[in-house]
Formats: sequence, C-alpha cells, structure tokens
Amino acid sequence: MPGYQSQGPVDCTITVDSSKVKGKTAIVTGGANGIGEAYTRALAAAGVYITIGDLDESSTEKLTSEFPKQIHFVKCNVTNWDDQTRLFREAESFSPTHQIHYVVANAGIIRKDEVFEFGEPTEPELSTIDVNIKGTLYTVKLAMHYFIKQNGIVPGPEQHDTCLVLIGSGAGIHDCLRIPQYSATKWAARGIMHSLRRTSHFYGSRVNVIHPWYVKTKILSEEVFEEVKAKGVEFATVEDAGQCLLRILSDESINGRSLFIAARKWASTGYMDLDLEDTEENELRKEIQFDQMRGNPVEDGLIV
Ligand SMILES: NC(=O)c1ccc[n+]([C@@H]2O[C@H](COP(=O)([O-])OP(=O)(O)OC[C@H]3O[C@@H](n4cnc5c(N)ncnc54)[C@H](O)[C@@H]3O)[C@@H](O)[C@H]2O)c1
Repeated sequence: MPGYQSQGPVDCTITVDSSKVKGKTAIVTGGANGIGEAYTRALAAAGVYITIGDLDESSTEKLTSEFPKQIHFVKCNVTNWDDQTRLFREAESFSPTHQIHYVVANAGIIRKDEVFEFGEPTEPELSTIDVNIKGTLYTVKLAMHYFIKQNGIVPGPEQHDTCLVLIGSGAGIHDCLRIPQYSATKWAARGIMHSLRRTSHFYGSRVNVIHPWYVKTKILSEEVFEEVKAKGVEFATVEDAGQCLLRILSDESINGRSLFIAARKWASTGYMDLDLEDTEENELRKEIQFDQMRGNPVEDGLIV
C-alpha cells in the first residue's frame, strides 16, 4: 500500500463494490443508534462482522437478532479505558479471522455549549470534549495497537488493508455558530487524521474522516430538528452515511480524505469530497510540510 498521496477528490458517484469488505471485521463505537446504527447495518449487509461498543444495550437487541452471527454488542463507555480495551478484546475474539480490519470512532455527543454562554462565568461542563476527543483518542490508540500487532511496521504485500474512520461533522469544516466546544471536537477528528495519514501505510493502514451534515437522529431533540427544517435546511440521510463508509472501506486508495455526508441537492449519492485536505498544490505549504517531516525520522522506523 502506498503512503499518503495528494490525488484529488474521491469520485463519490461510482457504484460501491462492497464485495471487497465481505468477511472482514469492524468495530463501531456508538453503533446502537442513529448514524452509527446505519454504519452497522451497511457493514452487516456487506457481510462484515461487527462489534458495537455503546452505552445503550436495549437498542441493539433488534440489530443483534437480525444479524445474530454478524453483530456482537459490548456495553462500553468510550471515555472509560477499561471498557474500550474490553471492546477491542471481545471484537478480536468475535472475529472469525481473529483480526480487526476496520474501526469506526463514531460515538459522539453534543451538549449545551457553556463555553459560549454569557453572564458571570462558571466552570464549563466539558463532557463533549470527554466523549468526542478523549473517547476517540482511546479508540485511535487501540486501533493502531491492533493494526500494528496484526501487520507489523514493515510495509509489504502480506499486510492486509486496515482502516480507521473518524467521525467529524459539518462543524469540523464550516463555521458553525456558537458551539466552540463541539466544533473543537470535530476539527480534532481532522487533526488526528492529518497526524496519522502519512505514516499509517507502515502498518498497512489508512485513516479517513466522515463529516455528517444535519442527519435526523437522537443527537438533538425533535424540536431542534423541526426548527432547522422549518428554516429550509435539507437533511442528509443515515443510509447515505452507511454507503459513504462502504465507499471508503472498499477502496484501498482512499487515505487521508474527508468525505462530507450531504443533502442530495448537493451530492447525487448523498456524500461528496469537498477536496479539503490536499495542500500539495500550494508550494509554500508543501515546503513547510516537507520541513516538518524532515524533523521526524519516520523512514528509520522510529515513528509509525
Ligand atoms: N446527526 C447529525 O446531524 C450529526 C451531524 C454531524 C456529526 N454527527 C456525529 O455523528 C456521530 C453519531 O451521531 P448520531 O447523530 O448518530 O447520534 P445519536 O445520539 O443518534 O447516536 C449516538 C450513539 O452514541 C452512543 N454514545 C454516546 N455517548 C457514548 C459513550 N460515552 N460511550 C459509548 N457510546 C456512546 C449513544 O448511546 C448512541 O447510540 C457523532 O459523533 C456525532 O457528533 C452527527
């Protein structure tokens, strides 16, 4: 597998060949509801074995009864390290190949943003940071551990494709008003991706980000979604998010990209590449990036 290359936007209009992922194993955090459930369903329909790590046990009963051989549930709070290590251990045991190929760090919340509030300042409640950043970083660390354990750090044909998918948001791309805390967590997903995408090929891996725009789920109340809709905002769909995940996983050339889950008025398949992540066409930024890498001895195998 080649390392990160600037290669222009991903074609999101082609038919996805999901046969490439059949028989593989995935972990989906927050996979019991909403967009995470759609990722799980899309993967299950493509013949993938999935271990869901979620706080919500009751919602997964339907999923696990529909796909009893393919879906395993682990009660897991992503902010708890022991829970996440158990999630990965159980996923490895549940996997027919005892390997973990794909990890989707999807669990996320949004809370009233006390960082933004006016009035006499009080210490803000930062659980959004805990779940969306700390929880995601635990997932990232464990994903890399398992990928490296399986593939080693010397690139070669015997390495099998693995992929980490981080979940950002329109709030990690666009100027979303008055939610600095949530926006910070979603820009963080891109930061993590940028930090890993040039070295992940050492351990046969890729890293990408999916950024949903408004998708009606339980993340916000019915009233909030109704209010937004009444103002003319068109929503994206959970099903299109599921297909976007399959597009990424089934194509080994996709590395270091951000795909946007968009309303169909913008994207014919419900997802698109806004071409956010390449810097190579800007000579100064390219030179600065080269300097950054010159200071890091990745080629000596010291950093993977
Ligand atoms: N729905 C949208 O419009 C939208 C837009 C942009 C980004 N996103 C992102 O997509 C992801 C999924 O959101 P959704 O809309 O499906 O939300 P949702 O609330 O419908 O589902 C989130 C799932 O994560 C689980 N979860 C929450 N905290 C957890 C924790 N600490 N440990 C384990 N599981 C936990 C919940 O139990 C639930 O099953 C999130 O990262 C969210 O930020 C959603």
